Amino acid sequence: MANIQLKHINKSFGSTKALKSLDLEIKHGEFFVLLGPTGAGKTTTLRIIAGLEKPDQGAVFIDDEDVTNLQPAYRDTAFVYQQYSLYPNYNVFDNLAFPLRSPIRKISQSEIQTKVQEIANLLKIDDKLRSSVTSLSGGEMQRVAIGRALIRKPNIFLMDEPLSSLDAKLREILRLELKRIQMEMEATILYVTHDQVEAMTMADNIGVLNQGMLEQVGTPAEIYNRPCSTYVASRLGSPRINLVPTSLFESEVLPPGTTTLGIRPEDILLKDNHNHPSSKQKSAMTWVDGTVSSVENLGAEIILEISVNGEEVQAIADPEKNYNAGENLELSFLTEKALHFNQDGQLI
Ligand SMILES: Nc1ncnc2c1ncn2[C@@H]1O[C@H](COP(=O)(O)OP(=O)(O)OP(=O)(O)O)[C@@H](O)[C@H]1O
Ligand SMILES: [Mg+2]
Repeated sequence: MANIQLKHINKSFGSTKALKSLDLEIKHGEFFVLLGPTGAGKTTTLRIIAGLEKPDQGAVFIDDEDVTNLQPAYRDTAFVYQQYSLYPNYNVFDNLAFPLRSPIRKISQSEIQTKVQEIANLLKIDDKLRSSVTSLSGGEMQRVAIGRALIRKPNIFLMDEPLSSLDAKLREILRLELKRIQMEMEATILYVTHDQVEAMTMADNIGVLNQGMLEQVGTPAEIYNRPCSTYVASRLGSPRINLVPTSLFESEVLPPGTTTLGIRPEDILLKDNHNHPSSKQKSAMTWVDGTVSSVENLGAEIILEISVNGEEVQAIADPEKNYNAGENLELSFLTEKALHFNQDGQLI
């Protein structure tokens, strides 16, 4: 177990400011997810904690000790890279066993055998132990890379989109497994992802990075329900939150300064939509006319794109009902669920 603190980290590559005065605190045994679009500085943050990159300014603390000038080997972290990085000349077994074979560890051959087998079973690669890693599929290689990090039980795991190259089913299994292992080991994990399902389901806390700056830190529920800005609001939720001008739904009593309404697709009301009980519909203030521009049937729900006064609004609809493109309908929203943003995109 270990905690991590980053204090006022600045890091530039040439003229690119990758991190700008970044402060971050991750507690013992916490599963912390870093969210942000490409180029936001996620990998750079992980590399600075691992010691693979040195900050221009600021300090890194692990377990309250200043490790800013410490070599990577002296920080007890395990890194799972965005792209699998295995030893190509070794087979799967030897790749998994590698971290255990360090002379300072003095782990017996039979213990190594047991641990490798255990991890291989967990990640469902036990039938590949004697295969060369170059013969593996991308998903299999990534499982070996995750296994190599898990096998050694370090204090801190740094994971850079470790599941992104896997198929949906395996992702789901490993998502649960990683969370289970983390709780069992009480490990501290800093996990980078683009995948909001991973963020929502695994994180104790989520940090949202925006161009090298941390825009908000909070629990998944806080980030989802009370995003501090339109930027954060649009990072979580699928389909995305609707960010529409206040003029779209008139006669709303709004806090002064509101220019944009944030309405989640599940909070859009459709007249006669069986999804929403009628008691909920009472809170709808105004109904406006829209035209269905596309219908996406996901089985358990339908996602409608509705054109309203030149704006596109996404709504979740009842799959039992038969919606068609071109159809006219009336829509509104749950007023108590709407978020109010000012012209700078900040939550009011
Ligand atoms: N070694 C490097 N040399 C030059 N520029 C770099 C280097 N590493 C990172 N950068 C730049 O720093 C910024 C942040 O990069 P980083 O890799 O941390 O982003 P990221 O959030 O991990 O993005 P992605 O989701 O695409 O992996 C980017 O603009 C990137 O081009
Ligand atoms: Mg990256």
